[in-house]
Amino acid sequence: FGRDLTVLPKIDSTQTEAEKKARNGAAEGTLVVAEEQTSGRGRQGRVWHSPPGRGVWMSTVLRPEGPLTAVPQLTLLAAVAVCRAIRGVSGVEAGIKWPNDLLANGRKLCGILLEAVVEDGRVRHCIMGIGIDANLEEGDYPEELQDKVTSLLRESGTEVDRSALIAAVMNEFEQLYMLYAQEGFEPIRLLWESLSVTLGREIVVRDVRGERRGTAHGLGEQGELLMKTEDGALIPVYSGDIEIYPG
Ligand code: BTN
Repeated sequence: FGRDLTVLPKIDSTQTEAEKKARNGAAEGTLVVAEEQTSGRGRQGRVWHSPPGRGVWMSTVLRPEGPLTAVPQLTLLAAVAVCRAIRGVSGVEAGIKWPNDLLANGRKLCGILLEAVVEDGRVRHCIMGIGIDANLEEGDYPEELQDKVTSLLRESGTEVDRSALIAAVMNEFEQLYMLYAQEGFEPIRLLWESLSVTLGREIVVRDVRGERRGTAHGLGEQGELLMKTEDGALIPVYSGDIEIYPG
């Protein structure tokens, strides 16, 4: 992973660029990194703010063998990999908010977007996009994000070496991806749970079925979040966004 590397000064989105490469036959592990993105994409159709020179904006081509159900599991695997890389390189004690946001002190510092291209019911390839607010400073964010986000620089007080961070992300991912291929999702599920800041917390889930409240109980075998409602029922949540109550 990361041995076929393209570094671009400025691009609309590294996702689009990596997707083009994948369509043209690029090997698994092909990596595109940009200094700046002019239309960075987030989950659920959101915009990802990607100013120049201070963040890590990267997309990697994946060619998973498994069925479609592997895709949500890969997003969780990616979160574990990036969380371990961040902790190792910067010392910041990042934690995972379901499914794959990374937070420090309740504020988001990294987002992951896994886009799958599906043909005839099979995954043709996936593009794994990772955005880490590595060395962003307070002034780099738009006003409305100020109290929701943070960066490794703001959390640790020192600039992080972005190349070292990218290399660590690729190394951690490669190791976990191999573990996943050999042993399935269970070891990844346990690692995810150990790094989670969601479990045990009061949450509200917003998805196509509206708004539901409960306590985040654990991760199911497919990677779904198991939420315990007031009457003790365990409800699986497969997609959507959650909000964690403060406290
Ligand atoms: C999210 O939390 O909503 C996911 C954000 C993913 C952002 C990264 S930055 C590199 C790659 N290129 C994009 O356009 N998006 C992803």
